[in-house]
Amino acid sequence: MNKEQRPPGLPFELERVLITREQIATRIVELGAEIDRDHADQEELHLVGVLKGAFILMADLARQIQTPHTVDFMALSSYGKAAVSSGAVRILMDLRDPIAGKHIILVEDIIDSGQTLFYLQETLRSRHPASLKTCVLLEKTRSQLDVKIDYLGFTIPDVWVVGYGLDLGERFRTLPYIAEIKP
Ligand code: PRP
Repeated sequence: MNKEQRPPGLPFELERVLITREQIATRIVELGAEIDRDHADQEELHLVGVLKGAFILMADLARQIQTPHTVDFMALSSYGKAAVSSGAVRILMDLRDPIAGKHIILVEDIIDSGQTLFYLQETLRSRHPASLKTCVLLEKTRSQLDVKIDYLGFTIPDVWVVGYGLDLGERFRTLPYIAEIKP
């Protein structure tokens, strides 16, 4: 994507738009259709969103999924973002309901080191869902950790991004596109 996609009003701190709102919308329609196709035999899905980053993706994706579904959210805190090797993840806010026997779609905005997703998948699996699949909008780098992504929106370069749920010091989460932060 090129500089022509710098829209009027792009905040000064941002270098360029990586993924436009139209591209996101198109991909989410496709992801919703894939999820529906894969779960045609299931009566109900349970979507689990990870706060805060996934709140916008969850709202848009959930409305594309035709299979009946319920939604719930978790909030996590990760240590050692700067030094991933020390990374530990802890639950700040847990799911409201048990997931045993449910068909779960885990909804995340981005995978970077993979430690958040690794922890989440292990944690949710230990609660004995009927099935567990993962939908991630952005994959930044191919994680070394053993995490499975069933539905992926976009692979992006190893740059810092904001928008569509992702923040820089809590700013820019509600931009309708994914933009690269200036180096
Ligand atoms: C971000 C993002 C993922 C995680 C990915 O969350 O939403 O949950 O980092 O990084 P990883 O693959 O290296 O673990 P963050 O901790 O910034 O919290 P937020 O969603 O509240 O912004």
